[in-house]
Amino acid sequence: MKAVVLGAAGGIGQPLSLLLKANPAVTELALYDIVNAPGVAVDLSHIATPAKVEGYLPPDDGLEKALTGADVIVIPAGIPRKPGMTRDDLFKINAGIVRDLAKAIATTAPKAFVLVISNPVNSTVPIVAEVFKKKGVFDPKRIFGVTTLDVVRASTFVSEILGDRSLSPSVSVPVVGGHSGVTIVPLLSQSSHPLPSSLDASTVDGLINRIQFGGDEVVKAKDGAGSATLSMAYAGAEFAGKVIRAIKGEKGIVAPTFVNLASDKTGGDALKKELGKELEYFSAPVELGVDGVAKINGLGKINDAEKALVQAALPELAVNIEKGVAFVEASK
Ligand code: NAD
Ligand code: LMR
Repeated sequence: MKAVVLGAAGGIGQPLSLLLKANPAVTELALYDIVNAPGVAVDLSHIATPAKVEGYLPPDDGLEKALTGADVIVIPAGIPRKPGMTRDDLFKINAGIVRDLAKAIATTAPKAFVLVISNPVNSTVPIVAEVFKKKGVFDPKRIFGVTTLDVVRASTFVSEILGDRSLSPSVSVPVVGGHSGVTIVPLLSQSSHPLPSSLDASTVDGLINRIQFGGDEVVKAKDGAGSATLSMAYAGAEFAGKVIRAIKGEKGIVAPTFVNLASDKTGGDALKKELGKELEYFSAPVELGVDGVAKINGLGKINDAEKALVQAALPELAVNIEKGVAFVEASK
């Protein structure tokens, strides 16, 4: 099981690489960055777990060497937000970075599972897909936008509202839609640990808002030094771990992730009908399998307020997706 991290020397890349090195299912770990990746790799290589670690820089075909034989590729390469910026403001720089990395993946590791962390996820996932289409290697089952941090935040914040943080690892709340502001839609009515019906509406609204804008909370607190890195590394390793378990044959693993709705025709078409919109991508609970997406689940039973949140997410989502698609169409 070869895992590759592109952007491995960054704020997310380093702790994510550490957590992947700690995953005993990973036997090879390749770290690529435009700076410092060999140093990070040597550091991690002293940890007594099975993975053989190598670090690569751009010279001497470093990217191609990192990608050769990859099973799972995680991409946290790109710039993070500063206060006052939206994720879409990152598009100008990150779109080109992700496009170029996707080109290399399409050539060297077209069968790998690609997990996109770089923002804006609602656009960078379509960018990877469009590059793969151009190169004739597109398999919608194998490209995932990582929205796990929203799920992790929902577990944490719900457990806080319930007054017992020790519950947080077992609190499970599906979060659907996309990964920015109003496109992040927590389905609190499906929480494994229901909120008390006595909870007043403003507390519930505040909770939804905190899950949707949790990223801003970190950006503000870091005060110009970046955005979520450690919680993202935790979330990214959790999602990558699930993908790895699924491709090794474990069944029944379900996680929300931003996927192309053509990945599973039956589920994707049913979801589009449920949404009432011809969207190409959406984050929904996805059953993972040996080939990647095995089944896209629908939204299940949701209340009227959640239906309104889903509808409110769709216009921004459609614009973000189209922006990614158009960027690759306009690229040489
Ligand atoms: P960072 O600046 O600390 O690290 C980014 C790394 O990418 C750097 O080491 C940089 O050298 C590297 N890089 C830049 N161009 C590259 C290229 N062409 N090839 C390989 N590596 C390259 O940033 P960070 O805090 O780690 O955040 C990275 C990205 O992840 C940002 O876009 C951020 O918005 C996003 N993010 C996403 C989520 C999510 O939930 N999906 C959560 C947090 C952050
Ligand atoms: C997050 O949700 O923390 C990330 O998308 C980073 C950001 O820009 O908020």
